[in-house]
Amino acid sequence: ASTLGTQAAQTGRYFGTAVAAGKLGDGTYSTILDREFNSVTPENEMKWDATERTRGSFTFGPADQIVNRATARGQRVRGHTLVWHSQLPGWVSGITDANTLRGVMNNHITTVMNHYKGRIHSWDVVNEAFADGTGGQHRPSVFQNLLGDGFIEQAFRTARSADPAAKLCYNDYNIENWSAAKTQGVYRMVRDFKARGVPIDCVGFQAHFGTGGPPSDFQTTLANFAALGVDVQITELDIAQAPTTAYANTVRACMSVSRCTGITVWGIRDSDSWRAGENPLLFDRSGNKKPAFQSALTALGGT
Ligand code: G3I
Repeated sequence: ASTLGTQAAQTGRYFGTAVAAGKLGDGTYSTILDREFNSVTPENEMKWDATERTRGSFTFGPADQIVNRATARGQRVRGHTLVWHSQLPGWVSGITDANTLRGVMNNHITTVMNHYKGRIHSWDVVNEAFADGTGGQHRPSVFQNLLGDGFIEQAFRTARSADPAAKLCYNDYNIENWSAAKTQGVYRMVRDFKARGVPIDCVGFQAHFGTGGPPSDFQTTLANFAALGVDVQITELDIAQAPTTAYANTVRACMSVSRCTGITVWGIRDSDSWRAGENPLLFDRSGNKKPAFQSALTALGGT
């Protein structure tokens, strides 16, 4: 096939992109979106500061716009994200009582997942909970500080009850390199969850890479996590300067692991990227395919 989503589907995978609700009216943007991608991730619209800016009052308009549009076109949707230390409203980070926070967290997960029940293929239940550069420590956050290490397990258990059909993912960055201490910390958590029956179905590797692309052992990392009995997904791919080899290597790593179920790039055109200055995506500012597009398509097996 000649498009990313159609080609990925030939091996049962998806090829997705982050989508911003405010750009759906841009014809260049939406044309590429519908031609190339069969999964979408709302870039900001499902985050806590967008969905529950004030306690108990939920806003789903912008996220609904993305989900309804995608569903009508047969595109699948990843949910991003339920529990994250960033883009968190001040009323949550200001909570000082553990029981209050536990109730607030469980209510947030349950309400958002219920709203989208049956329409999300994978949810990033917890995002970026591990600290950088250390072996297995969680980063400070109101969740970690008040609820302790167990907040992640609590979030996953609540999520399973809310939408039993959705795949529940742990999502993080800088866990692509197998020997990194952070990778090992996440690996131990997933192994422990599987051993104790804590519900977890997938691990998301954000894959925000520098010009060198993925570490040489990225495929090993994906395979080792998959061997624990979870799916693995590349969830936020972008690569500084978008070198063709780096994109091809990333796609090949996923294609080589049967439980790598899909790839999402973090935006469509370079101008849509959170790192626009690095031109890290597959389409240029005018919406033309860049050389990295062809290398990604070829690595998927397309022409
Ligand atoms: O919506 C407000 C707007 O009302 C306001 O006028 C404007 C002024 O700054 O800000 C707008 O919010 C911005 C938001 O994107 C929506 O455009 C925020 O400032 C900006 O910080 C936010 O950036 C997002 C970032 O997450 C926040 O952490 C990026 O778009 C988004 O690509 C990025 O995505 C994250 C993933 O969720 C998690 N992994 C890392 C990745 C990159 O940082």
